[in-house]
Amino acid sequence: MDSQGHDIQSPGAGRTVEGLAGRRILLGITGSIAAYKAAVLCRLLKCAGAEVRVVMTPLAKQFITPLTMATLSKNPILVEFFDPENGAWNSHVSLGEWADCYLIAPATANTLAKMACGIADNLLLTTYLSARCPVVVSPAMDLDMYAHPATQENLRRLAERGVRIVQPAEGELASGLTGKGRMAEPADIAAFVGQLLGGENPEKKKSLQGRRFVVTAGATIEAIDPVRFISNHSSGKMGYAIAGALAARGADVTLVSGRTALPTPAGVRRTDVLSAAEMYDAATAAFDRADGAVMCAAVADYTPDTVSETKIKKCGGEMCITLRRTRDIAAELGARKSSRLLVGFALETHDEQVNAEAKLAKKNFDFIVLNSLRDAGAGFRGDTNKVTFIDRSGREELPLMPKSEVAERIADKIESLLK
Ligand code: PMT
Repeated sequence: MDSQGHDIQSPGAGRTVEGLAGRRILLGITGSIAAYKAAVLCRLLKCAGAEVRVVMTPLAKQFITPLTMATLSKNPILVEFFDPENGAWNSHVSLGEWADCYLIAPATANTLAKMACGIADNLLLTTYLSARCPVVVSPAMDLDMYAHPATQENLRRLAERGVRIVQPAEGELASGLTGKGRMAEPADIAAFVGQLLGGENPEKKKSLQGRRFVVTAGATIEAIDPVRFISNHSSGKMGYAIAGALAARGADVTLVSGRTALPTPAGVRRTDVLSAAEMYDAATAAFDRADGAVMCAAVADYTPDTVSETKIKKCGGEMCITLRRTRDIAAELGARKSSRLLVGFALETHDEQVNAEAKLAKKNFDFIVLNSLRDAGAGFRGDTNKVTFIDRSGREELPLMPKSEVAERIADKIESLLK
């Protein structure tokens, strides 16, 4: 066992990582204290049947030795452009061509920034620029570095270019602080790569290959002042399950997400937003390049007319906040959809059928997924939902089921409509 309780002999014991047998994984390691987890990750990939080669930045050698990684990967470790002993050239181009997946774990703020800018001052970075395979990064850093707008902007740029991000976890950090920035656990990273490379049912995987979708998920946040906001109870679970189900069938998915604690589903490109206005911008931009969209987010219909720059202080009497309408993202996509597919949601508390049909028509959805808060186990936060599909030819009522299963049924319906 290591100091964190990982079993080095059989990492991730009890979890089967599918989709990795025979796959070629290039593991990039950068200079973070989390580099020690790369040893466990490497073992886990090897145990799952992957061939692993390792490229390290010079600083990474300070955190974990090349000897350790060479022993675990059963391959020599690559750090420099040239072998100082014999001058042999380590070709970043052939490394990039060799790999089925380039997994950079841990990825420091520094490396992410260089990747976002196209800087190529070490072998790990030149290989990134040459890679033709999917690239996955698993960020690891202190919470303030992770939250810094520069880092967030770099991650956004990388995600927009197709780099997959394994979201860091929240917890105790090497600095002693607690927050988000801790590298995801090796078993979760390996599972992410396995799913990306096709651990799912291969038939399903291919069925949406070449299709691009936008999925909105979670709640928007409308600021009142620096302290308060207007929001709702959406956890993002339903939308994340849909994004994951579409990606598992081979679709290229952009998930436009309100604030949530959920990890990004495997193979999904995620854009984080806060307000309805930000969600509008991200969703409309992504829709231009998409074959369809699933609008699962619970978007604020109203936002404060002005946002106070300072905390609003208590005063004697009552207080009024003037709200103005937000733009309706789904209605906008419906207006410009042409032959693209548009799926909506309706969360209702009464007159469910009538309200859902009105939204179907008004927003030009191909079908709408109705869920009602009157049904036990349906709607916000939980892991189950009870939905009814409504389109112009009728309705199909589904029983209560896990949100993951609802997502599969939605993906099935999307597939049949695209045929
Ligand atoms: O996230 P979970 O906790 O798993 O909960 C899932 C859910 C309950 C949020 C989800 O199943 C759901 O019902 N989402 C839609 C909730 C909703 O607020 O719907 P609505 O009736 O307000 O909006 C109708 C449709 O228009 C929706 O597709 C919505 O995403 C979209 N819309 C609404 C307003 C707006 N400004 N822009 C929009 O795109």
